[in-house]
Amino acid sequence: MQPTSSSPRVVLGVGGGIAAYKACELLRRLKSDDGIAADVTVVPTEHALRFVGAATFEALSGRPVYTDVFADVPSVAHVSTGQHADLVVIAPATADLLARAATGRADDLLTATLLVTRVPVLMAPAMHTEMWTHPATALNVETLRSRGVVVLDPAVGRLTGADSGAGRLPDPEHLAQVTELLLHRPDALPRDLVGRRIVVTAGGTREPLDPVRFLGNRSSGRQGFALALVAAARGADVTLLAANTALSVPPGVSMSEVGTAEELRRATLDAAARADAVIMAAAVADFRPADRHGSKIKKSAEHAARTLELTENADILAELVRRRNRAAHPVIVGFAAETGDASHTVAEYGRAKLARKGCDVLVVNDVSGGAVFGRADNAATILSDDGTEQAVPRGPKALLAAAVCDVVAHRLTSA
Ligand code: CTP
Repeated sequence: MQPTSSSPRVVLGVGGGIAAYKACELLRRLKSDDGIAADVTVVPTEHALRFVGAATFEALSGRPVYTDVFADVPSVAHVSTGQHADLVVIAPATADLLARAATGRADDLLTATLLVTRVPVLMAPAMHTEMWTHPATALNVETLRSRGVVVLDPAVGRLTGADSGAGRLPDPEHLAQVTELLLHRPDALPRDLVGRRIVVTAGGTREPLDPVRFLGNRSSGRQGFALALVAAARGADVTLLAANTALSVPPGVSMSEVGTAEELRRATLDAAARADAVIMAAAVADFRPADRHGSKIKKSAEHAARTLELTENADILAELVRRRNRAAHPVIVGFAAETGDASHTVAEYGRAKLARKGCDVLVVNDVSGGAVFGRADNAATILSDDGTEQAVPRGPKALLAAAVCDVVAHRLTSA
């Protein structure tokens, strides 16, 4: 789609690293109608163009691409590019680019743009682990963060050579989510969860009937993954317990996969013992089949009765609440999907559930108008046990995640 006057204007800076090729996919996502539908100007460094040609960025962005301040002199590109943006995203940010940005250099169009702009800046570093962990890079990152630049931690995994470690550019999908979040809410990613251990459950549990069949639900896990992504970007040490999801691990997040409610229960109680907060975004099955057959149930077999007997699963949230004590008192956040009816509103049902479950915070989704499952957006009301409530308007799931992280960070600092 052609950008319109209401399209958000994003400058996509591209540093000279091998991950520059992933900037093409990010660009495509930023421009997509299904996403932000942004008007994107790509500003690569000279070295970035050794990995990806200017023609590729020009074709994908629909705009000319310049790298130095002497290009397009009449339009004073190094000033106008930064002035007219809503957000600057740099992906990948190499060690050299971080150093130049931290010291205020303006020796190419991208660094000059960074000095001119006053809009939020997001940087996604990618480099070899040794370069990332070098004290010089660590100091540059600290300097940039202290100035309000959002610097993501790189993802961990296979690097350019045979080795692996921290240094991979996060997936374009995650970078697009963070970009969209910052466009909605520039202050959504403060570093207020540094040193905090947060457990997030996500997805939907499956309760096997036999080796091929299960009772499950339609939770995609997107809300839980958005919570993990945002909490990690705010500096938390995040453990994500994912039940039957098909989403990729957000950068900086340690993920374990579980299948059944009982597996999720064990993993959650174990992780919660060391956590500052537990966020129960998973859709946990309330019941499981009373019998789990070791072999496939045959239509003709006698035990293939038409009636399914169920056993109740433990309520993990309630168990977390029961187990907490003064020494280990994590903030406990529950989720609830509710519909209103003639006698009670969604908020009233939410308040009653918050009291019944005994958790600190309950995020209530109003599902009266249809399913939220699998959608990229969400709207909810965050109820706290101190009586406060906050309505989060419909927006990307990362926006609701940021509002939940605000409440958790606030409770942790005032504890
Ligand atoms: N939950 C849980 N263990 C279960 C069921 C639910 O920990 N066995 C958690 C969910 O992760 C969620 C919260 O409890 O955070 C609310 O789930 P919900 O299904 O709405 O609660 P129920 O008590 O089952 O209420 P309802 O009777 O309305 O289904």
